Amino acid sequence: MKQINKNWLLLGFIMMLTFACDYKYITPDTGDPIDPEEPISFSAEVEPIWTTQSCTNCHNGDGLFSLKPGEAYQSLINNGLLDMDDADNSEIVTVPGSGGLHADYVYVGNQKLLIITWIEQGAKDN
Ligand code: HEC
Repeated sequence: MKQINKNWLLLGFIMMLTFACDYKYITPDTGDPIDPEEPISFSAEVEPIWTTQSCTNCHNGDGLFSLKPGEAYQSLINNGLLDMDDADNSEIVTVPGSGGLHADYVYVGNQKLLIITWIEQGAKDN
């Protein structure tokens, strides 16, 4: 009996791992699917997100690093906000919606997935 329970636990664990690896394709907040093979444009697709989501109300270079168009890329690099080895774990991905000042400043639709995929594509200033 003990052995059977252990096997179920192991199976559960393997399933959790499987879902953990795939989660960004199944969570409902990802919006439209993104083809990871399709190059994402930083200036056209990623950069406007921070203006749309009002991040630039505070992150405008007046005391805080800027996420304004034309300035955001340098801020991401200078402040170490990108994790090239683990894109999901990048601060530019994890901080919005994390509570405190950022509780109400979140990504919507496929914005988060777009940023993650852009990082996974090498975070090009394109
Ligand atoms: C109300 C003002 C305000 C808004 C709006 C805001 N932030 Fe911030 N943010 C701050 C402040 C202040 C800090 C520095 C203190 C802290 O970490 O809480 C900060 C820190 C951060 C950091 C961490 C920087 C570091 O070096 O640790 C990131 C990343 C960030 N913000 C991203 C965003 C994004 C993306 C948005 C929009 C979705 C956003 N913020 C909206 C005020 C704001």
